[in-house]
Amino acid sequence: MTMVLGIETSCDETSAAVLEGHGDDVRLRSLVILSQDVHRVFGGVVPEIASRAHLTALVPVVTRALDDADIGTRDLDVVAVTNGPGLVGALLVGVSYGKALAYAAGIPVIGVHHMEGHLFATSLEHPRAVPPFTALLVSGGHTMLLDVAGWGDYRLLGRTRDDAAGEAFDKIAKLLGLPYPGGRHVEALAATANAPAAGAPRFTRPMLRRDQKPGDADYYDVSFSGLKTAVLYALRDRLPQYTDNVWRAGIARAFQDALVETLAEKTARAARAFGRTRVVIGGGVACNRALVLGVTERVAGLDAEVFAPSPRLATDNAAMIARAGLHRFECGERSDLSLNAYASLALPGTARDTALVARSG
Ligand code: KG4
Ligand code: ZN
Repeated sequence: MTMVLGIETSCDETSAAVLEGHGDDVRLRSLVILSQDVHRVFGGVVPEIASRAHLTALVPVVTRALDDADIGTRDLDVVAVTNGPGLVGALLVGVSYGKALAYAAGIPVIGVHHMEGHLFATSLEHPRAVPPFTALLVSGGHTMLLDVAGWGDYRLLGRTRDDAAGEAFDKIAKLLGLPYPGGRHVEALAATANAPAAGAPRFTRPMLRRDQKPGDADYYDVSFSGLKTAVLYALRDRLPQYTDNVWRAGIARAFQDALVETLAEKTARAARAFGRTRVVIGGGVACNRALVLGVTERVAGLDAEVFAPSPRLATDNAAMIARAGLHRFECGERSDLSLNAYASLALPGTARDTALVARSG
């Protein structure tokens, strides 16, 4: 049994968690997440404010997590801390603190890739959300479609060419006059439109064509910036028979439909190509029920099960960092005091491969 302290400070959540276990047999003993509300005032995350807020919050958040788990630092075996990708100033707060804590406790520290954390998050709630599976990671900063043959054995099939899925939701929210972060507000508004309003635009599904074949560069990739421009024009061109509110709801719905259909189809393509019967959705946008439903419907013909985490584990949290850290620890990895923070960082264990005919088991 290994006792891991996880620390996450890559964006605007200060989080710490204690996780105990071995392999996939783990128990989450505590999880504390402090969301920085201040960024709502500015309509987006202000990096300098985020770093300062982490500085103030991190010690009490870690102390609370240890207290909730009923342990002290002497009971820990390893500290796992997000060291990228993310806001470098925000990451540095967690990395510096994690290194100091590990040094003082005489235990190792391990740097964890934030997106690998998202990949592990679902397994904390769903014991069957373990490899092999197809993974759709959709957060505020990243959109990745992966084939996961095993933990640490990843094939990056597709990604966004421009905006991340969460970023697209946040930008559309801004256009609709909704608060930041906007994903859940867009989802709520879209839910008020039972169907796209008659006469309302049906947005072209970005990077989705029938004649795409495995091996084509855009077979798995996505792109959302064109959709944003389409929304902008559609909002200006309201049909006179609709009130502003009904029109906005219809647009939110049409936007979400286009995004969901694109992601669901690309995910189904990946599951089919690799013969996977499990699909795991992770990242903040995994909170979106329409997305989970859309993917579930699209892979139904493949007899595939779809798993998504609850909102607390879908959005940024340290439990997923502790879980990914445990995996790295069990693989024998250790970081040292030269561990640094990186704004961009390649997912470890990843091969990018678009020649997708081969099944990998
Ligand atoms: O994974 P996450 O907490 O942070 C990053 O690593 O970026 O994801 C945050 C993103 C935001 O863009 C937010 O708008 C989006 O997740 N999000 C949603 C929903 N809830 C959160 N997007 C769509 N529908 C939701 N219900
Ligand atoms: Zn994240």
